[in-house]
Amino acid sequence: MEIVIRQTPSDVSSTVADIVEGYVRRGPTTLGLATGSSPLGSYRELARRHRESGLDFSDARAFLLDEYVGLPKTHDQSYFSVIRSEFVDHVNLDTDRVLSPNGESPDIAEEGARYDAAIADAGGVDVQLLGIGTDGHIGFNEPGSALTSRTRVKTLTEQTRLDNARFFDSVDDVPHHVLTQGLGTISEARHLVMIAFGKGKAEAIAAAAEGPLSAFCPASVMQLHRHVTVVIDEAAASKLQLADYYRYALEHKPSWQSF
Ligand code: GLP
Repeated sequence: MEIVIRQTPSDVSSTVADIVEGYVRRGPTTLGLATGSSPLGSYRELARRHRESGLDFSDARAFLLDEYVGLPKTHDQSYFSVIRSEFVDHVNLDTDRVLSPNGESPDIAEEGARYDAAIADAGGVDVQLLGIGTDGHIGFNEPGSALTSRTRVKTLTEQTRLDNARFFDSVDDVPHHVLTQGLGTISEARHLVMIAFGKGKAEAIAAAAEGPLSAFCPASVMQLHRHVTVVIDEAAASKLQLADYYRYALEHKPSWQSF
């Protein structure tokens, strides 16, 4: 796991955009997209590079991490809609090639297996962007999620519903259930890129990177993955015990080595 500590949120977004750009410029890429506020700066930066330097997404496709159960696709807070309004509509990524779990499926118990099969049919995800919840969740894998889990329905904790209430008129409108890629599904992506900002994420980042590998902190599953880049600002790094080493390693990064 490589931990990249940047001064400001905008430095974080530009590093993440560099990583994604590297894949997209190399050839057809399957992106793993995340919602939440953490990736928004990276999406804006990628859209700017698309407009100003012709970064071309026409050969790319994408899979979303998760979706609310029972919220119509057309609802402005469905992740289907959010990823379009925040990213897809601003680049030349074909909207039909951006797939997400179907939270309105009449056969919701089977939707997860169907979605995992679609990811596998596409050849898997090349680079997966991830935010992290204050309780260490990734996607919507709440604490206690099996480290090998597949895409399935989960029940949100009250804390996550409260955290996400800011996007709805009231907390009562936040669905209780979600479909989320499992921790095992996410781990199959070839490169995981985690993004976090601010003091509020410092404990979750420390637990994920330096705590025990445990379902109690679902993001700790990244410790088992062979290619992880955690890109965070100083505030989100403030509880890392080895922060000085991570800065030192970055300063001495061999010039031939990319993220
Ligand atoms: C939601 C999303 C996660 C995201 C998390 C943190 O729970 N399902 O994918 O990582 O929120 O969101 P934010 O980046 O806004 O802090």
